[in-house]
Amino acid sequence: MKRLFKLVSILLAVVVLLLIAAGTYVKLALPNVGTPPVIAIRATPAQIEHGRYLANHVANCMDCHSTRDFSKRAGPVVAGTQGKGGEGFLREDGFPGNYYAHNLTPAHLGSWSDGEVYRAITTGVSRDGHALFPVMPYEKFATMDPEDIKDIIAYLRTLKPIENDVPASESDFPMSFIINTIPAKGEGGQRPAPSDRIAYGRYIATFASLLRATHPSMNRDSPCQAWILPEDASSQCQPAPFVRLTSLQLSQALGRGHAMPSLPGSDRMPMELPNQQFATAKSTPLCPGQRLLT
Ligand code: HEC
Repeated sequence: MKRLFKLVSILLAVVVLLLIAAGTYVKLALPNVGTPPVIAIRATPAQIEHGRYLANHVANCMDCHSTRDFSKRAGPVVAGTQGKGGEGFLREDGFPGNYYAHNLTPAHLGSWSDGEVYRAITTGVSRDGHALFPVMPYEKFATMDPEDIKDIIAYLRTLKPIENDVPASESDFPMSFIINTIPAKGEGGQRPAPSDRIAYGRYIATFASLLRATHPSMNRDSPCQAWILPEDASSQCQPAPFVRLTSLQLSQALGRGHAMPSLPGSDRMPMELPNQQFATAKSTPLCPGQRLLT
């Protein structure tokens, strides 16, 4: 009996030591995505314009990194707040901590090198080396063509500087450990020729189908919203009106790009939504307190 007790104690001690070693490794050695790339972006006006389009309408950077008016349908960005930051993704919304979208204007990113901004967007590692929570969809952005990322950075450099000190994000245990294991160095993708509409649409859809990642508080005050979600994404309930598209439909729709008419009442995510998709939306369960746009 004594020997068994001794054995169990030794085993427990080993397990505790291993856990401490693993925790120390995760805290001190991770994230490890390497140093920021050395790049100096010199963009043409056309590239900056492309970055503006991607950041505002496709990769939706500005949806999360600006002030939104949720009293209006689809919560449009308040004019003049582009990139200001401050939106919270909070415990009360079900997040494992409080996360605040940073200020992306030159008032905050102005002193960062292009490579530091590039690394943050594509790997989820901030300038000082700390890991970002993946509500900031860096895993998706890692699949983007480096040229598209550079166009976005060039656009960010043109934003009006807005002084706005955003609170520091904080993770609860165990996310405070797990978060360090999430950043990864991506390979980057390749932008297909826009003339190949399906391939181009599919490429765009890999980082465009992000609205799902936005937080439930977006629904709190707004009676109607239009959300687009590919069928392979998961959702427990659906903000109204919820439009469920297959990945291919989404790719095709996005492949036709921004020339499409906007949703009624929405100045964002310009999509053409056939009646059939509204019908599908109507048959899906809604989040509590939601009603369908008719
Ligand atoms: C779904 C919301 C969302 C979208 C979309 C989004 N971000 Fe973020 N972003 C965040 C949040 C939240 C943080 C803070 C995460 C944290 O502190 O852990 C963040 C952090 C960042 C940071 C790090 C800043 C710093 O000081 O560490 C940069 C840079 C950034 N985002 C740029 C972008 C760009 C560029 C895009 C579009 C290509 C984008 N984000 C899209 C929510 C988002």
